[in-house]
Amino acid sequence: MSHGIALKPARSTRSEALNGTIKIPGDKSISHRSFMFGGLASGETRITGLLEGEDVINTGRAMRAMGATIEKVGAEWVIQGTGNGALLAPQAPLDFGNAGTGCRLTMGLVGVYDFDSTFIGDASLTKRPMGRVLNPLREMGVQVTSTEGDRLPVTLRGPKTPNPITYRVPMASAQVKSAVLLAGLNTPGITTVIEPVMTRDHTEKMLQGFGADLSVDTDAEGVRTIRLVGRGQLKGQVIDVPGDPSSTAFPLVAALLVPGSDVTILNVLMNPTRTGLILTLQEMGADIEILNPRLAGGEDVADLRIRASELKGVTVPADRAPSMIDEYPVLAVAAAYATGSTTMLGLEELRVKESDRLSAVAEGLKLNGVDCDEGKETLVVRGRPDGKGYGNAAGAAVVTHLDHRIAMSFLVLGLVSEHAVTVDDASIIATSFPEFMDLMTGLGARIDLVEEAA
Ligand code: S3P
Repeated sequence: MSHGIALKPARSTRSEALNGTIKIPGDKSISHRSFMFGGLASGETRITGLLEGEDVINTGRAMRAMGATIEKVGAEWVIQGTGNGALLAPQAPLDFGNAGTGCRLTMGLVGVYDFDSTFIGDASLTKRPMGRVLNPLREMGVQVTSTEGDRLPVTLRGPKTPNPITYRVPMASAQVKSAVLLAGLNTPGITTVIEPVMTRDHTEKMLQGFGADLSVDTDAEGVRTIRLVGRGQLKGQVIDVPGDPSSTAFPLVAALLVPGSDVTILNVLMNPTRTGLILTLQEMGADIEILNPRLAGGEDVADLRIRASELKGVTVPADRAPSMIDEYPVLAVAAAYATGSTTMLGLEELRVKESDRLSAVAEGLKLNGVDCDEGKETLVVRGRPDGKGYGNAAGAAVVTHLDHRIAMSFLVLGLVSEHAVTVDDASIIATSFPEFMDLMTGLGARIDLVEEAA
C-alpha cells in the first residue's frame, strides 16, 4: 500500500520453547529525535544504535531536505547540522510515510519558520488528527493550510516573529508536548508547556543534552511545567541509542507465553516513562528478571531475562496508560492466555494511533476466538491459558490497517494458539522493527510469510 510495499500476509503457528539472547534495535522515539536534533544543532552529531526503520529514515530524509548533511559511516550515522534557526525551506513536500512522531515533531520544528513547508504521509497517517499540533502552532502565529480539516496534506508558514506561548497539553501526548517545545526553539523568549500527566521525556532530556536552556518543575500533584528559552545554540552530540522497549514487548510476551521459553534481551531502555508494560506483566505473575541495570547516555538501561510464566488477569489503571501506550495490543495478547479477565482502562488515545488500535485489537481477538469486550475507552479480555480454540482454522486474516504493532501482536498470539493466526500484512512491520521476523524465528518462533496462490 502507500507505505511503498505490496501487502505481505504472514502466519504464525504453535511453537516449541523460545531460547536465546537477542539485542533489540534502537528506540524509535530517541532515533527520531537524534536525527532531528543532530540535524538542527551546530557541528557534528554521531549516532550509534539508531533504529533504521522506515519511519526514522523518513525523518532523516526530511532533515536532509532542510539542509542537514546525514551520512552512514560504518556503524555510525554522522550528521552536520544546520545550526538552530537555520533550517532551509524544503523544496518538495516532506513525506513522513506511516510516522506520526516524525510528522508531528517536524511540524513543530519547522512550522514556525517564515517559509512554506508541506507535510504528506501514507493512508494511515493521512487519517490521523493533526489539530492537536496545529492548534498550538496557530497560537504561535503559524498559518495552516489544509483542505482536509486538519489532516494531511498540510502546509505551514510561520510568521516573521513567532509568539512564545504557554500551552497546557490537553491530552497525554509526548508528540504534542514535543511539537510545541520544538517550535519554541526558533521562537524568541520563553515557550512554556504544562503537562498535567507525564509522558515520555526524551525531548526534554535530549534537548538539555544538546545544550538548550530548558528547565522542568514538577508540583505536588505531578503537574510538570517545562520552560524553554528560544533561539539558543544547540551543539552536536555523541548518542548511543538504547534498545526500544516497545519493540522488546513482542519477544518478551512471546517468551512468557510459549511454554519452556528462556530468552534474554540485551540493552533495553528502562526510562520510567516507558516501563508500564513490564510492571503490568510482573503484576500478572511474569518472571522477568532485570539484569545489569545501568545508566547509558543519561538513560536507564538493563538486560531482561524472561522465562515462560503462568499469567493471571489484572486491572491496569488508567494513569499507567502513558507509560505503556504502544504496548496495549501485545498486552491484550498476553491477557488472552491469562487466567481470569484483564481490564485495561483509560485507552482513549489508542483510537488515534497508526490505526484505531482499540477496535483493531478487539476485532483481531474475536476473529481468533478470544473472548473480549471493547468499550469506548476500555478493553476487557477474558483469557484461557491453554489457547484451546484460539486462532482461525479457516485462515481468515487479521486486518492490520497499516499498523505495525497490530501485525506483530497477532503474530505473537499464534505462537501458542490451537490453530494458526494469519495477519493480512507483515511488510508494515519494517516501519518500526525490520528485524522482527529474523529475531523471532531465530529464537524458535514459527512465523512465515504466506505465499500468495499463483
Ligand atoms: C511518541 C509518543 C507517543 C507514542 C509514539 C511515539 C513519541 O505518541 O505512541 O509511538 O516519540 O513522542 P503520542 O504522543 O501521540 O501519545
